Amino acid sequence: MPLEPIGQATIKIDEHELACPIFRGSEGERAIDISKLRKETGTITYDPGFMNTGSCSSAITFIDGEKGILRYRGYDVADLAENCEFIEVAYLLTRGSLPTAEQKSRYSGLLNQHSMIHEDMREFFSHYPEHSHPMAILSAMVVSLSSFYPELGQNRHEDLDMTVTRLISKLRTIAAFSYKKSIGEPAVYPRHDFKYCENFLNMMFSSPVRKEPFTPVMVEATNKLLILHADHEQNCSASVVRAVGSSGANLYASISAGICALWGPLHGGANEHVIRMLVDIHARGTKVKEVIARAKDPRHPFRLMGFGHRVYKSYDPRARIAKELCQKVIAANNTHDPLLDIAQELEAEALADPYFQDRNLYPNVDFYTGLTYREMGIPTNMFTVMFAIGRLPGWIAQWLELKNDTETRIARPRQVYTGPNVRTVDPIENRED
Ligand code: ACO
Repeated sequence: MPLEPIGQATIKIDEHELACPIFRGSEGERAIDISKLRKETGTITYDPGFMNTGSCSSAITFIDGEKGILRYRGYDVADLAENCEFIEVAYLLTRGSLPTAEQKSRYSGLLNQHSMIHEDMREFFSHYPEHSHPMAILSAMVVSLSSFYPELGQNRHEDLDMTVTRLISKLRTIAAFSYKKSIGEPAVYPRHDFKYCENFLNMMFSSPVRKEPFTPVMVEATNKLLILHADHEQNCSASVVRAVGSSGANLYASISAGICALWGPLHGGANEHVIRMLVDIHARGTKVKEVIARAKDPRHPFRLMGFGHRVYKSYDPRARIAKELCQKVIAANNTHDPLLDIAQELEAEALADPYFQDRNLYPNVDFYTGLTYREMGIPTNMFTVMFAIGRLPGWIAQWLELKNDTETRIARPRQVYTGPNVRTVDPIENRED
C-alpha cells in the first residue's frame, strides 16, 4: 500500500545527492524508500539475507523482536491461542476480521464440504517410495491441485475465496494421507461430523481397527500449535510465496514453493531437527554442557537447533506458549518424556551462558513444538508438515495482499557481479583443463 512520508533522508554518492522519503508504519518502525537509488545514482544496496530490507508494506502481522511481541491483525498471539480455534484465526488472516458465530459455522461447513481430494489424486500416494518424506509429497500434491482444479488456478477474483477455502481444507487431508501412506495403512477419509482439527487427528490416527483416536487435550493442542504457526510476516517461506506470486503464478504453485522453503532445517524443518538432536543427546548420554560447548565452537558446524532467530532478540512468545502446552499434554497423558528434561536443561544452560546472552539467542517456536507433537503421537517426519498446515493461512494472506497491492512488481533483486570480465571462446582443441 502507498505510504505517507513523515520525513526525508539524503543519500550522497560521489556527486549525486538523492532525497529519499522516510515512512513510518502503524507501530512506529521507520523505513527509507530507496526505490529511485539505482536510477538516480547508478548504485544499488547490498544486503545479503535481506537483514535490513523491507520488501513490502503489510497489514497482516506485527512482530517486535526486541520486546517479544507477535500479533496477527492486531491481536496478540497468546490471546488468539487462548480464546480461538484455528479456523477462526485462518478466517482472520485470510479475510481480515474474526468471524461471528454465524460466519464461523458457515466457514466450518465450507471446510468440511471441500475436504475430499480427487480419487485420482489419492492414487498418487501409492506411487511414492515407502519412506518418502511427507514434505516432498505435500509440496508435489499442492502444486498438482492446479491440474485437478484448473478453473481455480486462474487467479480470477470471483473464484479466489473458494480456492482459498478448498486449499485450507484439502491440505490437512493431503497431510494425513501422506502419513498413512508412509506407514502402509489405508487412507482415512474426512468426516462431516468432525471439526477441522478433530478431522485431521481422526484421519491421522484412526484405522479400520482403531476408532476415537484423540482426546480433548490433543484437539486443544492441535488448535493452539496451528495458531502459533499461522503467520510470521516476511519470513523465508512467506517471502518465497510472495516472490513466486509476483510472477503471476497461481496460488497453488506459490504455496507449493513456500512448503519447499519451509522444509529447510534453518526454517520450519528445525522442529524435526530439534527432536533428532535431543534423541541423539539422550541415546549417547551426552552432557548438556558438552552440547552447549559444541554449539559455541566456531570451528564446529553444529548449532543448537530451536535456538536463535533473525527477528526475535528476546524470548520468542510462541516458544513460551509451546513450552506450557507441552507440559500440559504430558501431564494430561500422565507420562514422562526424558527429552523434555534435556530440553529444559539445555535452555537453562544456554540462557545462563554469555555466548547466548551476548548474541540474544533464545528458544524459538521450534524448540518445544516437536516435543508436544511427539507426545501426541505425531511422528518426527510429520512435524514440519504440521507447521505447514498452520502456516497456510498466513501464506495465503500474504499472497492475497500482494495481489491487491498497487505497488506490487515482479520480485527481482539485483546483484554485485564478481565473475570474469568479457572474454572470447577458444577453439576446443586449444582449451586446457
Ligand atoms: N546455536 C549456536 N549459535 C548460534 C545459533 C544457534 N542455534 N544461532 C545463531 N548463532 C550464532 C551464530 O553462530 C552467530 O555467531 P557469530 O556472531 O559469532 O558469528 C550469531 O549467533 C548470529 O547468528 P546468525 O546465523 O548470523 O543469525 P541469523 O539471523 O542469520 O540466523 C537462525 C537465524 C537461522 C534462526 C539461526 O539462529 C539458526 O541457525 N538457528 C538454529 C536453527 C533454527 O532453530 N531455526 C528455526 C528458526 S525459527 C523458524 O524459522 C520457524
